Amino acid sequence: EWWEKERSQQTPESKAIEEAAELLRSSDLPVAFPTETVYGLGADATRSVSVQGIYRAKQRPSDNPLIIHVDSLEMLDRLLNPTVKHNPGSPQTPRIAIPPIYKPLLDRFWPGALTIILHNPSGSELAPEVTSKLTTFGVRMPSSPLARLLIHATDRPLAAPSANASTKPSPTTAQHVYHDLQGRIDLILDGGASGVGVESTVVDGLTSPPAILRPGGIGIDEIRQCEGWENVEVAYSDGTLEMKDIPRAPGMKYRHYSPKARVVLFEPTSTMKGVVKHVQKDLQDTAIGAHNIGIIRTRNWKLGLDLTSEDDAKVVDAPIDNLVSFPVPVQETGNPSTCTKMAYDYHLGSDATAIAHGLFSALRALDDLDVDVIYVEGVSDDEGHLSAAVMNRLRKAAGAELRV
Ligand code: TXA
Ligand code: MG
Repeated sequence: EWWEKERSQQTPESKAIEEAAELLRSSDLPVAFPTETVYGLGADATRSVSVQGIYRAKQRPSDNPLIIHVDSLEMLDRLLNPTVKHNPGSPQTPRIAIPPIYKPLLDRFWPGALTIILHNPSGSELAPEVTSKLTTFGVRMPSSPLARLLIHATDRPLAAPSANASTKPSPTTAQHVYHDLQGRIDLILDGGASGVGVESTVVDGLTSPPAILRPGGIGIDEIRQCEGWENVEVAYSDGTLEMKDIPRAPGMKYRHYSPKARVVLFEPTSTMKGVVKHVQKDLQDTAIGAHNIGIIRTRNWKLGLDLTSEDDAKVVDAPIDNLVSFPVPVQETGNPSTCTKMAYDYHLGSDATAIAHGLFSALRALDDLDVDVIYVEGVSDDEGHLSAAVMNRLRKAAGAELRV
């Protein structure tokens, strides 16, 4: 009702949403829109050409399936029952329902940052490109009102991966999307910064026991509290866990969340002394004449690092809010590679919720400052329900460069 009123009054907001919806219905180019997790790059999930447009704009490998976004359980019900509408009331057509194991999760977390895996029904309206040949699809109902209004106005399920260029950190602002996709898409709906900052948690309740395929905006402990999910299996790898099987969530095998700069992650168990030693050696070993370095601090590194100190975990006094920059004293060893031109120190806050919110922005901001390496302090599990998602993204961004 509220939307009908907005629409009839032709407010700037409703006109922007209408314009985006019209493009989604008719154009082959995807449209970027905000969600509570990250910005999505959306296309009508039932039109092959427009779904192909997503893969093209992002340069995403075609075997990495997309998540479907619905505005309501009714829209999902229509997706699961593609033939019913053609024979309304037909008694011989049994309806397909969402498997009951998902009920406690949907009651608690929808709309929100949770994606569930469902069987793609026969006669499905979904474009085959959405599922990349899998027999299942992932779907979520975003809590962002702007996202749901857009889906509602388009009146189609929207396929939407994160709206970054493939391999880059996910976008949490319209500016991030513009940076990556300018010239490749026609429209970005700007809804301000995404609240959560990391993508949805992907769960598979079709297997027994059920599995978490990707950590995200809903914590594993919260999921474990739900009936039927007490023994949920962690089926993703973020580099530290040995993979038991081939990746079950296809996207998890790719390089991900990577800024241009090399990312070195210090696990929460690192000592300050170990960190300093590592950084000094690292800078000496690297064959770059002079470095700009970025530091992303979370909790334990109370102050900036003095990179010239040999033995002790010496620190330099620096304000700990937001992004600060300070020149690092240069050690006179005659080795030019020990020169550090500038350190940019980014403090993200101390609980995983704040860290998740600012993480992708921080990686992107440091990239814009042309740093050569980013040292990141990890967070431990007890720092909030988003810590698993934060560490997963950081471990992927760091690739093999984990430090304990
Ligand atoms: O928060 C989010 O989920 C964001 C926003 C835009 O909604 N979307 C997002 O989409 O992160 P994307 O494409 O970047 O992530 C899709 C991931 C795949 O890489 C894969 O891990 C999983 O979702 N996925 C999708 N369909 C699947 C399926 N049928 N089986 C298993 N995993 C699937
Ligand atoms: Mg993504």
